[in-house]
Amino acid sequence: MSEQETSVDGGGVATADSAEGSLSVTDNRTGQSYEIEITDGTVKAMDFRQIKVSEDDFGLMTYDPAFTNTASCRSAITYIDGEKGILQHRGIPIEQLCEQSSFLEVAFLLIYGELPTQPQLERWLHDVTHHTFVHENVKQFVEGFRYDAHPMGMLLAGVGALSTFYPHAKEIDDHEERYMAAIRLLAKIPTLAAFSYRHNRGLPYVYPDNDLSFSENFLSMMFKMTEVKYDPDPRLAKALDVLFILHADHEQNCSTNAVRSVGSSRVDPYSAVAAGVAALYGPLHGGANEAVLRMLRRIESTDNIPDFLEGVKNREERLMGFGHRVYKNYDPRARIIKKHVDEVLEATEHNPLIEIATELEKRALDDEFFTSRKLYPNVDFYSGLIYEALAIPTEMFTCIFAIPRTAGWVAQWLELVDDPEQKIARPRQIYTGDRDADYVPISKREGPEKITNEFLRRPIRSRRGA
Ligand code: CMC
Repeated sequence: MSEQETSVDGGGVATADSAEGSLSVTDNRTGQSYEIEITDGTVKAMDFRQIKVSEDDFGLMTYDPAFTNTASCRSAITYIDGEKGILQHRGIPIEQLCEQSSFLEVAFLLIYGELPTQPQLERWLHDVTHHTFVHENVKQFVEGFRYDAHPMGMLLAGVGALSTFYPHAKEIDDHEERYMAAIRLLAKIPTLAAFSYRHNRGLPYVYPDNDLSFSENFLSMMFKMTEVKYDPDPRLAKALDVLFILHADHEQNCSTNAVRSVGSSRVDPYSAVAAGVAALYGPLHGGANEAVLRMLRRIESTDNIPDFLEGVKNREERLMGFGHRVYKNYDPRARIIKKHVDEVLEATEHNPLIEIATELEKRALDDEFFTSRKLYPNVDFYSGLIYEALAIPTEMFTCIFAIPRTAGWVAQWLELVDDPEQKIARPRQIYTGDRDADYVPISKREGPEKITNEFLRRPIRSRRGA
């Protein structure tokens, strides 16, 4: 990307020529005209506030639920062109990073904005490796969860709890504190995730092994049993490292927006990242790969694919792992993952779900319903199959997404706290409820005499809300 180009929403590139200028707006309510400046292909929502019908009018606001057409920040971390299926970190294509880099080097790139020199990389690897242990109290804390607690719920609580172990992290303008928080988050989230898994399985926790690489150590903490030293298959460790690179950052997605929004209150980074973990837990975001596997299992055989797709078209089902808010083309991450599926399956047992996934993708890409809506496989369509081949249970998938995404969350949080244009995030609303209503005493309120189960099944929603 040239320096003049600016990604606005991941869906388009505005060059300096086309991005500058102004917009003439005539308010037909008053007949008055306004000149609104266009910068980087955007108009400032606050410039519309001057448009009023009277002196005491609040002024015009923009309405954009789910931020589908609103840039909330300037960012130099990740560039996406969703139409062309391009993903770059600090300008470097994801394909090159997956082939030539490692996850921890990419984490450095995201956080510092440039690739590390050899001494910088060595220090970075050393620091992350030597902060993987968690305080023994954290272990006791994880032990307190119910035996069958979802690992993602435990991870969410564990990350939030880290802020209580490192209270100085709230000094967010102190650069050393920021460095330590970045290192600790990258180093300890895999340990917390693995402890959550072992707890869920009733297995003893495995402490980190400093002789192993980042992905090898994670496999060791997940799977080590009685052996003195865990010896991971290098093909599997490599595939996991590539998956980590692919999930490291993805600009202003739901969880990153959560980290930025919570971080804008200038809370410590552990609490801000916990918000990201919570957002990632949802099935439309990080939970999608778990949903993909459940879907493939439910389809059961390639013979059932036509019926399943009919259900999707009739809106009884959703084709999980397909579609993306930004990519209106093949997700470049899905293309890279697909290449690794065969390699991983070679090193592990054959998984019959792969046939169903391949056939499902083929049929969907041949179907007008999906092509007309530009629905293509996203990163999660194949990632679950690799995790399953690595013997990682379904309920751990989202935790494994959280491990690399921590690099992106930290990089985006750092960019946020240093951005002079940012303030505490506080959207506006269009109020749709009652005004100036009188309080009704309970004896005068209308309603059924008796509460039945029917009452519990009533949709819970605002009586008059839109
Ligand atoms: N299956 C069936 N129809 C779909 C799907 C799908 N997976 N995704 C979108 N559509 C339809 C949708 O019903 C709508 O059709 P119509 O215009 O006729 O009403 C049209 O395509 C546009 O969809 P949308 O809901 O407006 O798109 P969105 O940008 O709000 O949603 C999405 C994006 C990812 C939430 C959605 O595509 C989806 O639910 N996909 C399945 C879940 C999934 O795989 N999520 C992982 C995303 S990648 C990992 C990450 O970055 O978190």
